[in-house]
Amino acid sequence: MTPQPGVRHFIKDTDLSPAEQSEVLDRAAAMKADPFGSTPLAHGAARETVALIFDKSSTRTRFSLAAGVGELGGQALVVNPGEAQMGHKESIEDTTKILERAVAAIVWRTYAHEGLERMAAISHVPVINSLSDDFHPCQLLADLLTIREQLGGTEGRIMTYIGDGANNMGNSYALAGVTAGMHVRIAAPEGWGPAAAVVDEARRVAQQTGGSLEVLTDMRAAASDADVIVTDTWVSMGQEAEKEERVERFGAYQVTEEVMALAAPHAIFMHCLPAYRGFEVSADVIDGPQSVVWDEAENRIHAQKALIAWLLEKSTMAKETL
Ligand code: CP
Ligand code: NVA
Repeated sequence: MTPQPGVRHFIKDTDLSPAEQSEVLDRAAAMKADPFGSTPLAHGAARETVALIFDKSSTRTRFSLAAGVGELGGQALVVNPGEAQMGHKESIEDTTKILERAVAAIVWRTYAHEGLERMAAISHVPVINSLSDDFHPCQLLADLLTIREQLGGTEGRIMTYIGDGANNMGNSYALAGVTAGMHVRIAAPEGWGPAAAVVDEARRVAQQTGGSLEVLTDMRAAASDADVIVTDTWVSMGQEAEKEERVERFGAYQVTEEVMALAAPHAIFMHCLPAYRGFEVSADVIDGPQSVVWDEAENRIHAQKALIAWLLEKSTMAKETL
């Protein structure tokens, strides 16, 4: 994807360099401490509206972005699945040309990642991926903020993701984790790790940051001494018809107290949510003392506010031409 000059997008975790990711996370912490102190979308400052387009359902993403855009002084326009013309009556490109004349930024949750690439290639306002089949980078900013808060930093920490390593969360943990200098371990059945291109990119980034990526089938080896244990649903949105075979495939990869006991004594448990107790995680783990899932969910607000403010600041050409 070659963006328009002077416009920054965030459709994949590595759209932020390691230094930029750290800058956004610093800003997120500052915004959390002073939630109403920064209003770049306030009336008269810039465009006020941020488009939130959903092709898939959502709770956290919708509320955290709507609340966050409001706290930045702007307003969110939420478009639910099937409500806009895009995708059935109008092309992605034509829709982008309309939206960029009305809004400060476009946030889109969709299926094929390629749609976001097409939008980002022509948009003069920032495009943000709020989940595609391949990546969920906004979630990872919230997760990294939570890890910083709980463990004092990310560099050198071991983060073990257990379950469907081939889904959007597996890919994003690999890329965002190494960008933050973490040692990322993905534990998944043979052939269900991140895509080869993601593994290659993560290993390239890891060389700059001192992080690393390992893809393993042995969940217990992967959990050993980890600082963070994380999982996600075995049946992502769009995969509902495969539920039975997926439950069978990933059934041995449930995060239980026995798995948590292999991790470091201070280890935290995370999950992007929604969670399915008794499948990818046992109730005693997600509802237990090591779980930080509610802080993680709240941090979506702070991380996304910081991201939007940062992207708008860096998108100099967008400001000049609008
Ligand atoms: N974690 C997450 O993105 O949640 P929603 O699907 O509810 O937005
Ligand atoms: N992998 C999950 C994440 C939900 C936030 C999905 O895509 O449904």
